[in-house]
Amino acid sequence: MRKKIVAGNWKMNCSLPEGKKLASEVIHMVEDEVQNDAQVILIPPFIHLTGIHNLIGSTKKVFLGAQNCHQHQSGAFTGEVSAAMLVSCGASHVILGHSERREYFGETDELLAEKVKFVLENSLTPIFCCGERLEVREAGGHEKLVTMQVEKALFGLSAEEIRKVVIAYEPVWAIGTGKTASAEQAQEMHAFIRNQIAAKYDQEVADSISILYGGSVKPDNAREIFSQPDVDGGLIGGASLKSRDFTNIVKAFD
Ligand code: 13P
Repeated sequence: MRKKIVAGNWKMNCSLPEGKKLASEVIHMVEDEVQNDAQVILIPPFIHLTGIHNLIGSTKKVFLGAQNCHQHQSGAFTGEVSAAMLVSCGASHVILGHSERREYFGETDELLAEKVKFVLENSLTPIFCCGERLEVREAGGHEKLVTMQVEKALFGLSAEEIRKVVIAYEPVWAIGTGKTASAEQAQEMHAFIRNQIAAKYDQEVADSISILYGGSVKPDNAREIFSQPDVDGGLIGGASLKSRDFTNIVKAFD
């Protein structure tokens, strides 16, 4: 059985007090209300990790993630944060290759291959993001592009390594736009990605990997999207900043 996951990517939002308030509300609501066994991952800015880790404490359902990390262990890389540092702050997951990192910070598939490998060596779970821009979808190139992203960043891994990766399919045209992919579009791409993995590795490996959908997931569309057979949860942006909305998205699995 694949893990169900709902991850909240806070992006560059919340002061520390705001972040602590949001996290503690989510932790309490999840504890009190959620019936299902989905993993909930809070992904705040780096500097809030320790503060939020302290709030999570020994809670079983809630995990901590970071939004990025550097591809080296330590050294003269001013302003960067390493995978080992994230682990030392209590993080278990890290987003890699978010479309905003690709677009604004020039992250390439080759760099992401390095980061994924390094993160796994540090026993962190990468949440590897892929997804096409609007013009690529309109030209019918989305499958080809996502195949390339996944191949370049992940297919250098062994079967044992790729099993530890979480994939997030986030069509760029659906991020922060209120324009969600339809449940059918999400299912189609998730099944497509899983088939690529099965062809490269085998079906058993492909079936073990959680593939999350991201892009304008809200409480009112989460249930339909999450009910698709190849959608194993969501990577949530805007709605993860509201504790009630985010918890209700987690409850879509109930
Ligand atoms: P929104 O949910 O705000 O569309 O953001 C999705 C996202 O980018 C999560 O990583």
